[in-house]
Amino acid sequence: MELQGLTFNQKTREIIAQKIKEQSGIDVRDPKQLAQMTDHVKTWRNNRLNRARKQSVLHNAGEYINASLYSGNQRLDFIFKNWKPDMQANRLLAREVGAKCFNLARKMVDEPCKVLLTGKPGVGKTSLATAMLNHLCDEGLTVMTVSTLELAGLMQQQYEKTDVKDRVEYVTKLMKTVDVLLLDDFATEGGMKNEAKSVRQDLQELLFSVANSRINLQKNEVVGSTIITTNSSVSELEMMYNPKLISRLMPHKPEFIVDFSQLEDMRV
Ligand SMILES: Nc1ncnc2c1ncn2[C@@H]1O[C@H](COP(=O)(O)OP(=O)(O)OP(=O)(O)O)[C@@H](O)[C@H]1O
Ligand SMILES: [Mg+2]
Repeated sequence: MELQGLTFNQKTREIIAQKIKEQSGIDVRDPKQLAQMTDHVKTWRNNRLNRARKQSVLHNAGEYINASLYSGNQRLDFIFKNWKPDMQANRLLAREVGAKCFNLARKMVDEPCKVLLTGKPGVGKTSLATAMLNHLCDEGLTVMTVSTLELAGLMQQQYEKTDVKDRVEYVTKLMKTVDVLLLDDFATEGGMKNEAKSVRQDLQELLFSVANSRINLQKNEVVGSTIITTNSSVSELEMMYNPKLISRLMPHKPEFIVDFSQLEDMRV
């Protein structure tokens, strides 16, 4: 079909080009102007996509952070810049410990892994674990802190209170799916006075289901990073928990274990 010597398609394009020129001032019939417009549309589309992606990450990130259970119900905020090796008599070791945590956090950006921070109270385990989470959050990963002591407290109450039961279920669901999970105070729930008591069965079962979701049993691969802070040694942990749980949660190579045992208590 022809109109005034032009095919119908050409005529339609002419009309559209005219309309665009009237509205935006850009003549799409000019290849230079058309290229500019294409770039402009591309940038606009990318910005819109990035914004949407960021919003969804932020929304997700907020959900995990809001569901976190902090030790003593107090959120400790810490970044690597706050780590002061000079506070410790053995400042060289403190520097090494800080650097090891930083390098592990960087590694976790590309590859999920299991990390254990072990040592006496007050040596900075939760602080450095939190710095790792902050770094990973800045890199776009979702992070969540769960003090197993606080979780044990909720589990104690869940049989009488249905809202607590719902909360435990919700926290468990998020513990399974978050990119990086910090299990803080691990094993404190087994007894506070240097006595390695066996940990309540329901908590062990919950942790077992979480641990299973964070590894691919078929491929023997870690799918979600887990950082554990504890005052106990691995042999004490083995007395308190089912060995199947410990095998799933604990790192097996020394490069993923950060030993704070020679550092001093910095709590005032
Ligand atoms: N090297 C350090 N630089 C700066 N602050 C530190 C350092 N070491 C410890 N602190 C501070 O000391 C306090 C105790 O640290 P933190 O809570 O991280 O200890 P912890 O090892 O997790 O103890 P616990 O086993 O009792 O949970 C925090 O306020 C922490 O910021
Ligand atoms: Mg701690």
